[in-house]
Amino acid sequence: MKKSVLVTGANGQLGKCIEELSLNFEELNFIFKSSKELDITSFNSIKAFFEKHHFNYCINCAAYTAVDLAEDEKEKAFAVNAEGVKHLAILSKDYNTSLIHVSTDFVFDGLKNTPYTETDAPNPINVYGASKLQGEQYIKELLDTYFIFRTSWLYSEYGNNFMKTMLRLSKQRQELNVVNDQIGSPTYAKDLAEVILKVIKEDSNNYGMYHFSNKGETSWFGFAQEIFKQKKIQINLQSITSENYKTKAKRPMFSVLETSKIQSTLNFEINDWRMSLKNLIMK
Ligand SMILES: NC(=O)c1ccc[n+]([C@@H]2O[C@H](COP(=O)([O-])OP(=O)(O)OC[C@H]3O[C@@H](n4cnc5c(N)ncnc54)[C@H](OP(=O)(O)O)[C@@H]3O)[C@@H](O)[C@H]2O)c1
Repeated sequence: MKKSVLVTGANGQLGKCIEELSLNFEELNFIFKSSKELDITSFNSIKAFFEKHHFNYCINCAAYTAVDLAEDEKEKAFAVNAEGVKHLAILSKDYNTSLIHVSTDFVFDGLKNTPYTETDAPNPINVYGASKLQGEQYIKELLDTYFIFRTSWLYSEYGNNFMKTMLRLSKQRQELNVVNDQIGSPTYAKDLAEVILKVIKEDSNNYGMYHFSNKGETSWFGFAQEIFKQKKIQINLQSITSENYKTKAKRPMFSVLETSKIQSTLNFEINDWRMSLKNLIMK
């Protein structure tokens, strides 16, 4: 019998990448649900859904991802990123489903200067990070059969992301200022989608927490420079410090993730971030 996979938050950028790749997995039966079709904050609606179908896997792509807005909408952020995830963990346990969840580098405070490992202590410095950490904690408390993939600086051809913002702004302005003192690893959402589908395809039982980002590190300025270089766009790009670009939510200054665990345990080769950007741009 085909394995059945529920994808929540399916209209976001990760959900869309999974949908695109799902065409290569005929042995899996996918059910994609957008926020309108399945709201993870409503326990009763997801319970009814789990009762009706049997899912071998639930991939949770649903999240409240507006980092700055979350400072003013704490309740909303926690409702989705913490309580919604708790609902999925409870139901995954009750209905014998493995839960694949995605978390963030923003659970860390950014005070380290070497890549964060899965065993480093989280210490979020904004509401979004705190809400995502609470979601992780619910899963760990309630469920054994889970994978949590912490990732960073996601971009793709879908949804809203830094790459698309840069390309849009380059059409409207001749000069752009981008911060050069926050360091992380840009990650193509399709690469993350690939590792998630590999876990399902192989029925891996190496459950637990994993860090996944593309290899290498850069600043937002370095990321912007590479986008314009690869797209052959001429623009006056200026680097500025975070001090000169105030945002409502504080961001970790350094949030590079150490990815050796996922590479060795799940046997997954990770691309350098520049190569993955090229793969998307050449698509
Ligand atoms: N984007 C990044 O840079 C980044 C970095 C690190 C980690 N992550 C994590 O990676 C995961 C995927 O992120 P993404 O960039 O694909 O996010 P995204 O594009 O913002 O997509 C999130 C999706 O979740 C849906 N959603 C929101 N509330 C929901 C609810 N109550 N019930 C069901 N669906 C709901 C949204 O639908 P609506 O649009 O209708 O609200 C949206 O389609 C998230 O867990 C995120 O925290 C992202």
